[in-house]
Formats: sequence, C-alpha cells, structure tokens
Amino acid sequence: MQYKRMPLEIEAPEEKGYNTIKYNLAESSMRDIQLKDLDVDLKDLVLFYGEHRGIVKLREAITADSDILSVDDVMVTGGAAMALFIVASSMLGPNDHLVVIRSNYGTNLETPRALSCEMSILDLKFEDNFEIDIEAVKKEIKSNTKLISITNPHNPTGKLFDERTLRELILLAEEHDCFLLVDETYRELNFQTELKPYLAEHSDRVISVSSVSKSYGAPGIRIGWIVSRNKKLMGDFLAAKEQICLCNSVIDEEIAFYLLNNRAQFIAPNHAHIHVNFHYLKQWFARQRFLEWVEPQAGVVCFPRLKPGIQLNAESFYETLYQQYATIVGPGHWFELDKVYMRIGFGYPHAARIKAGVGKSGGLFESEYKVNRMSMTGFVGCQKFSTPPAQYLKTSCRLNPEYYIFVPTYYAAEKLLVTIGAWPSAGGNNITCIISHSRI
Ligand SMILES: Cc1ncc(COP(=O)(O)O)c(C=O)c1O
Repeated sequence: MQYKRMPLEIEAPEEKGYNTIKYNLAESSMRDIQLKDLDVDLKDLVLFYGEHRGIVKLREAITADSDILSVDDVMVTGGAAMALFIVASSMLGPNDHLVVIRSNYGTNLETPRALSCEMSILDLKFEDNFEIDIEAVKKEIKSNTKLISITNPHNPTGKLFDERTLRELILLAEEHDCFLLVDETYRELNFQTELKPYLAEHSDRVISVSSVSKSYGAPGIRIGWIVSRNKKLMGDFLAAKEQICLCNSVIDEEIAFYLLNNRAQFIAPNHAHIHVNFHYLKQWFARQRFLEWVEPQAGVVCFPRLKPGIQLNAESFYETLYQQYATIVGPGHWFELDKVYMRIGFGYPHAARIKAGVGKSGGLFESEYKVNRMSMTGFVGCQKFSTPPAQYLKTSCRLNPEYYIFVPTYYAAEKLLVTIGAWPSAGGNNITCIISHSRI
C-alpha cells in the first residue's frame, strides 16, 4: 500500500502548532475537555490487554439507546479514523469498486486510493444544496461495487441527509449486494434535531462509524467504534483490528465509558454552546457580502464559498489570515475542492473567539478583495466628459477636474478615495498605475 499524507492533516492546527493560532476556526470538534473535568479514578485500573472488541461496558454504553443493537454489533477502535481504515482495508482491494460521496473526510478517499481500488467520486454541489443525487449514485454502481461511502451529519457542510435519501441508499446497497458505509462521527452534535439511531440499526447492509472525538471534545483518547449487524463483516473487522493493535488502550476505554455513561453532562452544554455560536454565524452570514453558505443543520462546521463573481487571491488570503491575524479556517483544498470554499468550525471556539475570528476574516476579505480587484482590473476608467459604462459610477477627479474617474460601483459604494500615480497624457481610457486607495 502506498500511503499519502493528506493536506488536511499536514496543515492541521496541531501540526501548525496550537500556540501560533489565536482564532481557531479550522476545528471540526467541540473544545477539548481536560482529564480534571472528569470524575474518573484510574488508580486501580489493571493495565492488561483489554477485550479485543472493546470492554463490554463501553459497548453497552454505545448501544444504550437502541432496542435493536447489541454489544455484539459493536467493535471499539482507535478513533473513527481507525474504524474507517479497518472497513476499507477489510472490504476493498484492487478488483473492487466503491462509490464515494465527496466532499468527505479524507480517510474515506485516501485509504481506498492507497488500496488501489476503483472509485466513482460524486461531488455534492453547493448549487444543489449539497443534496445526494440518488440517480447518479445508482448509475455508478457496478457488479464489483462493495461500498457506497457517505458522511452524515456531513463534514464539511453540516448537512443532515433526510430519511428518504438514507432509505434509498440502504435500498441500493441491499439491491446491489454491497454495503453502505456511514461515517456518523457527528451524530451526537444534532443540536437542532432529535438524536437519530445509528443507521446500522436499519439493515445489516449498513456500517456505521462514530467516536467520542467530536461530540465530547476528546479526540486525544482515540476511541471510536464500528456498528454493524452483519456478523461476517464484524468477524473480518475484528481480524483486522487484531492485526493492527489487538485491543484499545484500557485507559482510553475507561475514559470513553465515563463520557458515554455521563452523556447528558457533556452533550447538553455542548449543544448550548453550539447554539450560541451558530446563532452568531447566522447573523454574520446574513450581512456577508463576500461569502455565501448553505446553512448547516447539524455538527459544528459549515462550508461557505466566495460569492460568484468575487475574485480573491486565495493563496495569500489564507496565509495572511494565519500569519497576520493568527486565524485559521479549513481551505477548500483540504476537501479536494477549490479554495473559494472554506470550512468554518463553530463548535471549538469560545463565543468571543468566533466573533473575533470571523471578524478578522471579514476584515481581510474587504482589504484583499479591493486590492485584488484593483490589480485585476488594473485601472479605473478615465474619460474626458464622457458617459461611464453602466456598471461604473462617475466620480469627480480631484487631480484634474476636467476628467471623470469611473470606478466600479462596489468602490464608489465604499466612497473610496483613489489616488492615481500617473495621469495619461492624452486623456486615454485606462489608467494603469494606482498607487494607493483608502476610504474617505
Ligand atoms: C467525518 C469524520 N470522520 C472521522 C474523523 C476522524 O475522527 P476520530 O478522531 O474519531 O478518528 C473525522 C475527524 O475530523 C471526521 O471529520
């Protein structure tokens, strides 16, 4: 297998250095908790090899909400990341095919690539409200299709796919003798809707994956799980886990059990916090003139993009945002998309930090955008007593009252003072040298 590091991981906040970031809007989780927040006593814990499927009390806690699932339908893993790796590496090889709904969490794309299996990638589109096109999925299914892979609630859009879509995907898997993999890592961050059962409850053709990383703010203990009612698959997954690590850290499992066993203590305040930040973001987006979003329904991320027609030097934008303002967001290339998209995480920052962070981004948009538009257009129109083109506004020119300067309406609306470095000798149309601009 040929592994490749993913941009998302290379540029992750923990790799950049948390101490270099003040406004961290790149996280897709809640704020990390501390061990001292937990009333958990580990002193008598025996540091033996734990049960390979995961300690029973933890698996019971994972299935506690369900009348359908039992502990045998669950296997604990080293985070959802390992769960996804186990699923892909157990089920896919060079002769197999899968359908991946993208954007998706990197592992859901990169592991199948490393396994050299054939992939059909279907992109969710902003214009379609990030809905899954079931007909398109249907068309991609082949005789060697083993998996259809989705994330729900979705990262990075915050989309929650509706019951009908999910039912149709399950039907497709059942009809075509393949499996539906649902990465449900954000399941408990259902801050606007009731908690849905694991999709794996509905069919033994579904594999659900989740973890304590996002909802509980505990990614450091590396506990996730696979849920499936398919006994054969669960046997294969166990064999894979035994090859990788035998069992989980018993310390991690004990802490994860504590979290799930005291679910309300963590989840309720987390939802309250998300509500506050989400409400603020909604207001912020309503005022945004550079970004547009599809409002997220669950989870702690949204995936806005630059409004059509807005040009920006994305490379310098993200770099300046980080270097000058100690602010980071998740640029589109983390999700194999253009950098006009960006993921903004609203679960991790405190309320004051999200305000300041999006404020910094908004401020930088303003300045970068103007500079960029100036250098892109390269001129403001200038004609002697002439009628300006419709999209331009006419402003009087202080340097030479005989001339008008035509500035694009978005500058004029900002009341820009445009300073011109070189005046064209014979009243030509274009002035190519702009040395500065500022608001008046
Ligand atoms: C959709 C999704 N799946 C899986 C993971 C991995 O999570 P874990 O920390 O549980 O391994 C992430 C982390 O960002 C994610 O966003």
